[in-house]
Amino acid sequence: MNFKRHLANTIHGILPTDDAPVELIESYLEVPKDSSMGDFALPCFRFAKTFKKPPQAIAQTIADGWNDESSEAAAVSGYLNIKLNPVFIARNVIADVLGARGKFASSDEGAGKTICIDYSSVNIAKRFHIGHLSTTMIGHSLKRIFDHLGYTTVGINHLGDWGTQFGKMISAYKRWGSREDVELRGIQAIVDLYVRFHDEAKDNPALEDEGREWFLRIERGDTEALEIFEWLKELTMNDVAKIYDQLGVSFDHYTGESFYKDKMQPVVDELREKNLLEQSEGAWVVDLTPDKMPPCLILKRDGATLYPTRDLAAAEYRADTFNFHKSLYVVAYQQDLHFRQVFRVLEKMGKPWARDLVHVSYGMVSYGGAALSTRDGHTVYLEDVLAEARAKARRIIDEKSPDLQDKDAAAKSVGIGAVVYSVLSAGRIKDIDFRWDSALNFDGETGPYVQYAHARCCSLLSKAEEAGLTVEECGKNWNADALANPEATEVLLLISRFPELVRDAARKYEPSMVTRHVTDIAGAYNKFYFEHRVLQGDIESQAARVLLTEAARIAIATGLMLIGVDAPTRM
Ligand code: ARG
Repeated sequence: MNFKRHLANTIHGILPTDDAPVELIESYLEVPKDSSMGDFALPCFRFAKTFKKPPQAIAQTIADGWNDESSEAAAVSGYLNIKLNPVFIARNVIADVLGARGKFASSDEGAGKTICIDYSSVNIAKRFHIGHLSTTMIGHSLKRIFDHLGYTTVGINHLGDWGTQFGKMISAYKRWGSREDVELRGIQAIVDLYVRFHDEAKDNPALEDEGREWFLRIERGDTEALEIFEWLKELTMNDVAKIYDQLGVSFDHYTGESFYKDKMQPVVDELREKNLLEQSEGAWVVDLTPDKMPPCLILKRDGATLYPTRDLAAAEYRADTFNFHKSLYVVAYQQDLHFRQVFRVLEKMGKPWARDLVHVSYGMVSYGGAALSTRDGHTVYLEDVLAEARAKARRIIDEKSPDLQDKDAAAKSVGIGAVVYSVLSAGRIKDIDFRWDSALNFDGETGPYVQYAHARCCSLLSKAEEAGLTVEECGKNWNADALANPEATEVLLLISRFPELVRDAARKYEPSMVTRHVTDIAGAYNKFYFEHRVLQGDIESQAARVLLTEAARIAIATGLMLIGVDAPTRM
């Protein structure tokens, strides 16, 4: 049951006007910070204008007319504070969660709507570093959240695989590289060659021309150029695939920038037809002065296309192909201007779907207080972080759970869970200074902490099962009074708020809301667990506590799934 809806109906029945529709009342209902004020509160100043009465008088009118048997209401300082009957809470939440089975907190609000999500979008011939982790995991989590809400989602990896830098790489490779070296050292060998190219180009500008020449050859489809280019791509993708595999991340499409090489001309033509293109210092741009932005660059002086040109073509392609409800770009806020420009240009072109493009930006990742930079080696590779995390988890498991089966699998879940949780725990717009100790922290509010609460529920449930208390049996005969205590009520109320929270997280494109909520549920369940013996006392009361445990397990597993963290049953 949606408690807010239930209470809003009661309030609506008491208020002497139709100017306060149920939906409005529902949207005003809050959860007080201090639970002694009740489980829900209605700030009555919201209705002061409608009723032309002071808030306290409105609150009093509602309190006086209160006729809901499942709750009590009191008027306090202009608020209507409502406390639900704990048994009522228990009966409803347990029935809802167990009834929902695997679909807890899901909905069909997205039926028939498609959401495109552009995330991770790695660059060819670069190694995956911690800066890419946020886009990868925020995007992955948003995909799961929208899937859960019934949307059709399309995960797109907009690979950075086009541009003059690839010509430079080929030129560097041809000059100083060798196949053996690249095969031995992988992408790092290419990165090194690229750095050398830049160093030498400072004294030898002819190198730049040579790089451009090679890129032209790629564009023209020259066999040798294409062969080397495809090989670089393959090397990078093999590297990246190992990371995605560990993170459990996948994509529906790997349509990178090169995919749009033949789709840009129509966009350029359309811009020209619509008189949006003008020449500036030899280049072709769309003027955005009225929008107080620098011009959006479309074609370089030599006619070469640019990053924005490819994004224009990509947006158009996605609109045509997927007819999206929303098209998201999970990209760091450094690219704020880029996306504002691209979206604005599409509006100027008269694309009605331009308003459905959303830049889901996130904070910058630094390391030791300085920006990451592959060029001067100041970076942390994700491969190393994940390996460290798994090794640390393995050491802890060896020490604390020597009898655990398949320790490697558990170490993978826990180690990677810790890293993923750490990037999804703070609001996405916050800058993150990567710290080994916090990414690898397993204590306090961390991934492993939540995973542990889940494993605890699982182990209790299997103990109960051994004693004949299967969830199914418990559901037939249980005493809800056993859950009429503050600790159980706290768990149940948090669970009851979860479905609404998931919808909010989707609306705000904010997976961290799910992370925080699932952490709260884990914490509340732990508190319950330490205060109450689940498997003691009369059978109906045990059954009730088993059902609470099952509900917590389902909620935690759902939350972890939505943020892309494994939920091991044993740890
Ligand atoms: N490859 C780009 C980068 O690493 C991100 C691409 C984001 N997506 C897009 N459609 N522009 O900066």
